[in-house]
Amino acid sequence: MSDYQYTRNEASDRAENEVQYGYMEKVKQLVDDLSVRLCRRPTAAVITFGCQMNARDSEKLSGVLEQCGFTLTEDEGADFVIYNTCTVRDNANQRVYGRLGYLHNLKKKNPAKKIALCGCMMQEATVIEKLRKSYSFVNLIFGTHNLYKFPELLYACLSSDEMIIDIWDSTDRIVESLPVERQFSFKSGINIMFGCNNFCSYCIVPYVRGRERSRTPEEILCEIRSLVADGVVEVMLLGQNVNSYGRNLEHAVTFAQLLQEVEKIEGLERIRFMTSHPKDLSDELIEVMKHSKKICRHIHLPVQSGSNRILQRMNRRYTREQYLELVRKIRTAIPDISITTDIIVGFPGETVEDVDDTIALVREAQYDNAFTFIYSQRTGTPAASMPDQLPEEFVKEQFNRVLEAVQETARRQTGKLVGHTEPVLVEELNHQEAGHVTGKLSNNTTVHFRGDASLIGHIVPVRLMECKGFYYLGEKVEEDIRELWKS
Ligand code: SAH
Ligand code: SF4
Ligand code: F3S
Repeated sequence: MSDYQYTRNEASDRAENEVQYGYMEKVKQLVDDLSVRLCRRPTAAVITFGCQMNARDSEKLSGVLEQCGFTLTEDEGADFVIYNTCTVRDNANQRVYGRLGYLHNLKKKNPAKKIALCGCMMQEATVIEKLRKSYSFVNLIFGTHNLYKFPELLYACLSSDEMIIDIWDSTDRIVESLPVERQFSFKSGINIMFGCNNFCSYCIVPYVRGRERSRTPEEILCEIRSLVADGVVEVMLLGQNVNSYGRNLEHAVTFAQLLQEVEKIEGLERIRFMTSHPKDLSDELIEVMKHSKKICRHIHLPVQSGSNRILQRMNRRYTREQYLELVRKIRTAIPDISITTDIIVGFPGETVEDVDDTIALVREAQYDNAFTFIYSQRTGTPAASMPDQLPEEFVKEQFNRVLEAVQETARRQTGKLVGHTEPVLVEELNHQEAGHVTGKLSNNTTVHFRGDASLIGHIVPVRLMECKGFYYLGEKVEEDIRELWKS
């Protein structure tokens, strides 16, 4: 276990933070000067690829840019554009290269435009080589480990025309106090840990995000309290494997214990978390979820495959029998829970029979939803050098078979709540239908119903009238919501 230990110096993390706030002041000056030249405030766009952890990082990038005087926009015609990239599958990388071509054209029309790249894809040496060679118009490149230095890097980028590249192999720092511009006022992600130690044989995340590091419960609770004071009612605790949270802290804490502390925060209404590795999901967690009033009735429990042979080659460290037993335990303890999963189709050497096993598992687990991915060969991972990579046509066929099974069970599961009245957190106006809003059930299913913007950020009781495959149409009811929570 010794290579899993990390040392952390919190005083030095705080000092580093001050340095970065100093750089923000300097950037502000540059942005003010630029405003005078442009006769308007310069604009900045943060474009996110990838998972919720990247989305959270993007909120920090936006927070810094806004604090420095940029006007935030979603338009890639902005004066400063940053792509926060993902590399979990090759199509994520291809999308970035494609869009860079488009950005280059925009830059030709606006030579003052600055283009920056950060995130997981930048941790790959081959990517950096390619960018250096063929994308020399990019101004700033940094990785996942030094995001906390964004103000300093931004300062360097705005004061120079050179391509600035700063990529680190790892870090022992956790500097989490940069300003944050949240995407939603009423809900927020919170990093509880970084990195991953699992090394599933197909996965690049441990290589680009480094070893697992947990934040202390005090830091996490303090951040949530201040979010709640700022109007947040729902938090999503984020980590690649939240079930191993706290193991490598100086004073070890379990994820279930952390949840119990989070539950005590007054004013917080809903708690979600992502992602749970099945091998580490404890009975203690099931027990805490069962008795909780705030933890949402949803668990994302990636299975990846239903074949023991493939699971072993994937280095997932559980069998299909163990996984199904876990599902049974969770459903018995929390009957109204929704369970979702991730599945990979086309792992090297996967046969029709292996896929049959996956389909049988999908039917048995009765997933409420599943994200099905075609296996993507990631350079540097053990699976990439396995000899039996599969032909595309065969994989597509197998993928479609799995997708069909997933859709069939998901449709059946979603319909279960028709006729019930359930609390819904209203998230936004419905873009398709005027006079309607869209929200989420505790079990994460989407609900559309008649309502206006004044409901956004509130939890209201909604009768679920009709199930339309993967979402409900409902009607807001006037009964006192507290009655619902008593039941
Ligand atoms: N830490 C999370 C997953 C992070 S990546 C977990 O273990 O559950 C999100 C999903 O991407 C994974 O669950 C997996 O299904 C998929 N994925 C990861 N690497 C992949 C690859 N090389 N090809 C296809 N899908 C992959
Ligand atoms: Fe990747 Fe496995 Fe870690 Fe998830 S647990 S991030 S799939 S290595
Ligand atoms: Fe992608 Fe990085 Fe997340 S590779 S899935 S953005 S951790």
